[in-house]
This record gives sequence, C-alpha cells and structure tokens, in this order.
Amino acid sequence: MNKSLRNLALLPVWILSIFSKSKSFGENPVVGSYILNLLGLHVFRLLLAHGISNFRFFLLSPLMPKEERKRFHEDGYIVLKDFLPEEEFAALQHEAIQYSGQVAEKIEGDTATDWVRLSPDKCKELPACKRMLDVPGYRKRLQYCAATLRPPLYYIQAIRHNYVSGEKDPQKDVHSDTFHPTMKAWFYMVDVTPENGPFKYIKGSHKLSWSKIKWEYRKSLREARAGTDGSFRATEEDLKELGYDQPKAVCVPRNTLVIVNTHGYHCRGQANGAQTRVEIWAFSRVNPFNPFLGLSVKLLEKVRHKIIDKLTDHQSKSGKLKVVTANWSSEFKQDAK
Ligand SMILES: [Fe+2]
Repeated sequence: MNKSLRNLALLPVWILSIFSKSKSFGENPVVGSYILNLLGLHVFRLLLAHGISNFRFFLLSPLMPKEERKRFHEDGYIVLKDFLPEEEFAALQHEAIQYSGQVAEKIEGDTATDWVRLSPDKCKELPACKRMLDVPGYRKRLQYCAATLRPPLYYIQAIRHNYVSGEKDPQKDVHSDTFHPTMKAWFYMVDVTPENGPFKYIKGSHKLSWSKIKWEYRKSLREARAGTDGSFRATEEDLKELGYDQPKAVCVPRNTLVIVNTHGYHCRGQANGAQTRVEIWAFSRVNPFNPFLGLSVKLLEKVRHKIIDKLTDHQSKSGKLKVVTANWSSEFKQDAK
C-alpha cells in the first residue's frame, strides 16, 4: 500500500492522535499538517497539554515540599544534593559502577549510552538499586515532577563520551524533548564536571511566555514544511529569537539528584576526551491530555515490565537493539569508593 493510501486508511487514528503524546511532524500527517498548523493546531495542543499537566501538578502537590515545587516550576529543574545517607550511597555506587551484566547500547554520533532497566526481576539481583527505588522521598518527587502517579521507568545508565568514532552526537544539540511537560531524572554516581559532558539546561525555558507561544507557532510551520521528528531543535537564531541565554552546565557532586522538565531546552554537554558518567536515570512521559493521575500498583508494574521485556527481546533478536556486556567498571578504578 502506498503512503497516501495508508494515511487515508489510518485517518481516524491520526485524528485521535491529536490528543496523544504524538509529536512527530514527519510521521503523523495530521499533527504535522502545514494547513492545520497554520490554523494553530500545534499551539492548541501546546496550551491544552500544559493546562491539563498543571491541573495534575496541582492535584499531586502533597508529594513534594512547597519550596522544592516552587524551584522546579521556576527553573524547570531541581538539584537535591547529598540525597542518600553516605553508607547507602556507597552501596548503590558500587553496585551501579561494578555492574557487569547485559546492557542495551545506543550509539549516537561519538557517544555510546548503555542502559540496564531496573525491572522488579532485575532488582532481585541489585539490592541497593531496589532500596533506592523504594525511598519514598525519591519516588514521590519523581511522581510529582512527572505529574502522574504511574511510576517512571528506572535504569542504570552509563553515558560514554568519545568511545566511538562518529559524527556529532545529536543529543548535544539544544532541543526540547516534546511539546508538553515531561520528566527525566539523573541521580549521579560520579561527580559531574565540565569535563565529563554535563547535562545543560536553559533555566525557565519550559515556561509558556507570550513570545515563546508566538515562536512555537512559527516553528511549527517550519517543522511541518521540513517533516521533522517533533523534538524541536533550537538553533543559535532560535535562541536569539526566544531571548534565551546559552544552556548552562549543571555540574554537581556525586550523590546528587537532578529532576528536570525536559520540555525546557537542554542538551548533553561536550566531554573532554573519553569520559563516562554513570547514574540512576528515570524517565516518565504520559498522555498530556489525560486529566487522571494514573495508578501505582505493583502488579500493573510487573505486567508493564514483562511487556517491555518481550518487546526488548524481539528488538534485540531482530537487530533493532544492540545488547552488549557492560564494561564501564574499569574506567572508575580510582573513582569508586
Ligand atoms: Fe533531550
């Protein structure tokens, strides 16, 4: 079936996807339609999604202290240092850095990112990780910042800069992950320095100012013409148009939790030579048009992870996902306590 016929057959699905997470202007002919965006579709989705997310933030406000919520909404991220007691952190750091099992690996430009998903089954082998995931102040803050009760997906993640030869890592371009509030969190096992590719963020860039809404409208028309993937990239010119400064590196010591609304503009920093950062990484993205808070039920989480296990298995067998053995521990001989 050719692309036009396929799109026609799928039209009801594309129309319904207006009220979903769908963000790819290139793949979704309704979301990415030039005419509909000329009529304001992107801005309509942007405003409605932000409004409904704010409603969910309001309902979940008991999960995070007021002062922290204020900082999170003002800056777009929050930094919580000395998050775990020293002994507990040392156990977690050892477990994450010394991990030597199978990992999924994604190569982007010159950077390799390795992930171990912390499913309930995986946590049986990793007791310090399990204890971390059960820390109420961790879980609740992530639920609040993701504006949902549904738990995030958790991973041990190693970002290995300059370990492969390739083009520029696309994550190092300033971008917004999607059009609505969405949460990622990094709990660092090593110090984050200007040399090891720190996360960078433009403070306040998650907010919908009038000038940003006008820019989003213009950008949606440019993206519709280009048919891109929907993670808006911000060029130097865009940053100037938006009145934003350059993104600033979030350099923090180990044992720091950084929770971010990655609707705001951000990127991966450059690293000085071959450098590896290891962290417990969490990610949550729900349908921004859903006003309900979702559920946190152990049985549902088990089922969710079993489904992801099956998909991952299938992807690795079909070659879509590369699975390798973790080999980052040797890079941290003097760093791990
Ligand atoms: Fe991103």
